[in-house]
Amino acid sequence: MTTRSVVLIDPQSYISQQIQKLVIENINFFCVESTVDAKNLLSRQPCSVGLVILDRSLQDSLEEVESLVAATAKTEWIALVAPAYMEMANVRSFVANAFYDYHTLPVDLQRLLMTIGHACGIAHLRLSLAKKENADSGHFGIHGNSAIMQSFFQRLDKVINADLAVLIGGETGTGKELVAQAIHGHSRRSKGPFVAVNCGAVPQNLIQSELFGHERGAFTGAQQRKIGSIEAANGGVLFLDEIGDLPLNMQANLLRVLQERTITRLGSTQPVPVDFRIIAATHVDLQQAIQNGSFREDLYYRLSVIQLDLPPLRSRDGDVPLLAEVIFKRLSANNPHCRANGFTSQALRVMSAYRWPGNVRELINRIHRAVILCEGKLIGVSDLGLDAHVDIPEAKTLEDARASLDRSILEISLRNNGNNVSRAARQLGVSRVTFYRMMNKHNIAATH
Ligand SMILES: Nc1ncnc2c1ncn2[C@@H]1O[C@H](COP(=O)(O)OP(=O)(O)OP(=O)(O)O)[C@@H](O)[C@H]1O
Ligand SMILES: [Mg+2]
Repeated sequence: MTTRSVVLIDPQSYISQQIQKLVIENINFFCVESTVDAKNLLSRQPCSVGLVILDRSLQDSLEEVESLVAATAKTEWIALVAPAYMEMANVRSFVANAFYDYHTLPVDLQRLLMTIGHACGIAHLRLSLAKKENADSGHFGIHGNSAIMQSFFQRLDKVINADLAVLIGGETGTGKELVAQAIHGHSRRSKGPFVAVNCGAVPQNLIQSELFGHERGAFTGAQQRKIGSIEAANGGVLFLDEIGDLPLNMQANLLRVLQERTITRLGSTQPVPVDFRIIAATHVDLQQAIQNGSFREDLYYRLSVIQLDLPPLRSRDGDVPLLAEVIFKRLSANNPHCRANGFTSQALRVMSAYRWPGNVRELINRIHRAVILCEGKLIGVSDLGLDAHVDIPEAKTLEDARASLDRSILEISLRNNGNNVSRAARQLGVSRVTFYRMMNKHNIAATH
């Protein structure tokens, strides 16, 4: 049997003495006097369970206890509270929000030992789940177990140190910038800068000086020399986001830079050599833009030496629950008021079936909202704002949809009325005959 460790904050040795009298096999008690001592102990000796006495003997403030509980995620805390303290509203809400359980003083040791046993069980369960999650730390922080993402990762690995231009395609929110950062961070250019420019967000009249920089006095208002993004990326990576929004005249200038590997600041005639890797991203189809005449074909070939396409979230089979869990853990860790520790099975089902037009970013936003709004222990569909997507059966025609809705209404009303057809018919405002006819039509058997 494994030995379980329990820390007890008990300045007056009130409980410690009683515990010492008991012979408790396979539980190691560590008695300390304050939250600071408890923190020190826990940094050396992990304990599954912590006990803290909330009564007059407590030398620390409630905030200090709260910060200890918040900082020790691997320990389940049990409060031993004096009855007078339990009458204080702030103590009550603190105990309800932060503790696994509580006992009022004086404690019944046998009952307390049972609670400790349960809390140890939960702590071990949480630890084993956390270990499983850590084992899946993603590929450079990009999570996904689906076959489509696994083959994406294989391609990504080959691309990283090739030092060639990369064009990343994919719908909005699929992780294009994350991938660009991963390429930079794991390539031999990782010590150099990563300079990102969103071509769609810079006003057209400023984009030239944003990319190429300018000399002092190059134009009205140019009071100082400015180093452009391309020059700033020297030795590193230049990430051009939304490259499809780059105006045509700038496309010509960029093409020249890629051919000559030098830039000339606005207002200067002096070319400056630059050494950078270019990574571009687009959520629009550049082939289509070439057809429309809004994107240069020669630039496209320069940029897409390697093309990486991020699949939309809806086609990453099985990845939604995994991503949801990872994102939830990250967001709830920063939100001490969130009491939820997972999702309802309905929420997981609905999330898996949803189309995610905004992809991973939308998933993050919905979970963030749920972490803030959720009041229960599990996040449900309404916390995620997905009520409208609950189990809508996929119907081929409007007639099919109506039939399926009729069938569900009949079944629900029968169930709610204990299978009594007369009562169900009355509830729906139809005659018994009509009700039977509808049951017949939808193949619903009358059960007694
Ligand atoms: N597979 C993933 N695992 C973990 N986090 C992800 C994953 N994909 C995307 N993210 C996160 O989702 C958010 C959106 O990703 P990112 O900004 O890279 O998307 P994008 O494709 O550049 O979107 P847009 O087209 O809207 O600019 C970021 O917070 C990113 O860290
Ligand atoms: Mg982006």
